[in-house]
Amino acid sequence: MKKLWMMVLSVAVLSTGAFAKEIYVTIGSDAIDMSQKSLMTANAIATSSEITVLKINEKDIEKLSHLMHVNFNRCGGFIVHDSEQEAIAVLNNNAVRKTAKSLNFLNYTITEGERVQNMISRVNEFKMRDMILKLSSFNNRYYKSQSGVDSQAYVKSTWEAIAAGRTDAKVEYFMHSAWPQPSVVMTVEGSTMKDEILVIGGHADSIAGFWGRERARAPGADDNASGIATITEIMRVMMETGYKPQRTVKFMAYAAEEVGLKGSKAIADQYKAQGKNVVGVVQFDMTNHKGTKNLDIVFMKDFTNEAQTKFMGSLIDTYVTGVSWGYSKCGYGCSDHASWHNVGYPASMPFESTMGDINGKIHTKNDTIDAVGSQDTADHAEKFARLGVAYLVEMGK
Ligand code: BES
Ligand code: ZN
Repeated sequence: MKKLWMMVLSVAVLSTGAFAKEIYVTIGSDAIDMSQKSLMTANAIATSSEITVLKINEKDIEKLSHLMHVNFNRCGGFIVHDSEQEAIAVLNNNAVRKTAKSLNFLNYTITEGERVQNMISRVNEFKMRDMILKLSSFNNRYYKSQSGVDSQAYVKSTWEAIAAGRTDAKVEYFMHSAWPQPSVVMTVEGSTMKDEILVIGGHADSIAGFWGRERARAPGADDNASGIATITEIMRVMMETGYKPQRTVKFMAYAAEEVGLKGSKAIADQYKAQGKNVVGVVQFDMTNHKGTKNLDIVFMKDFTNEAQTKFMGSLIDTYVTGVSWGYSKCGYGCSDHASWHNVGYPASMPFESTMGDINGKIHTKNDTIDAVGSQDTADHAEKFARLGVAYLVEMGK
């Protein structure tokens, strides 16, 4: 009984003390001197070159907001967090993302001319077209529907047939407990640097409509049967020529991208937690709609690694003859590369057009291979498969 009264008393004291509550904000590190000088209660408790976690008294929030506006012309310019841990996590993640963007993860060199050229010459547009048509023929590949499970079984058996006879290769499901559609992963074990991993991926799911998505027609030919066909062709040429990489290569067909990058996030988070050394990630999402007149391959600048992306531009200049390239940006984490980027791995996303010229048919029943920009062929996607082969061999060494 005495204990209960003590509890009631302490709760009452805590709640009446709320007006003097300490809170945690993240704020640009350039504003720290000013904040600490102007606010008696401000205390920087963790800092990076970009942002700082500041502990302040709740009553000073408005004053800080005003100071930021006057001194830095920023509207607010800081974020209030629920807890100290949350503020620190944001700071840490910013550092992680900065690393993922700016660090050189490898010495990027171009040395495998003969092998790359031979392999590139074998890229077959008909086979890619066939794969796009086959994947589009499932009613949809939605992450919650049976056809989305069946389409992944089709990807798995197609990849198994391609890898048949290679003892260094295996194809597995990566199961997701929260929904039925699995991701599919082919691993080709590296011969001399097997702990260094390259990821060549794209999402296998499709989506259309708002209600009844399980039943909606969603061929997803461009978004993203084209990317899966691109990946499949890279691995087919790899097996046809008997190429054995020194680094481990993982080909991935992610589940559940269209509902918030869920499949790739589960995989990337697990790799991070297990301390896996992923040295390169490339995302093929939408490769078959030629939307921009004077540009073939457009690299997304956000949620990607600068050095690796620049290297991929050099690979096009060296090997993918007649193909032009440039830059654009999504403005948000628009595809699975962001899942890898957010945990600190270097990713690139070569895309089919600029954001301004995006394929308006995606996420509808009209995302089919006969749409304008594809014209019943896989001609545009073929360029990406050539680039992917060059990436595989120059990064795999
Ligand atoms: N393939 C798209 C992403 C995309 C669309 C990139 C257009 C560039 C131009 C992807 O499948 C997608 O639809 N992403 C979602 C976001 C995701 C977090 C659910 C989107 O863009 O709405
Ligand atoms: Zn999409």
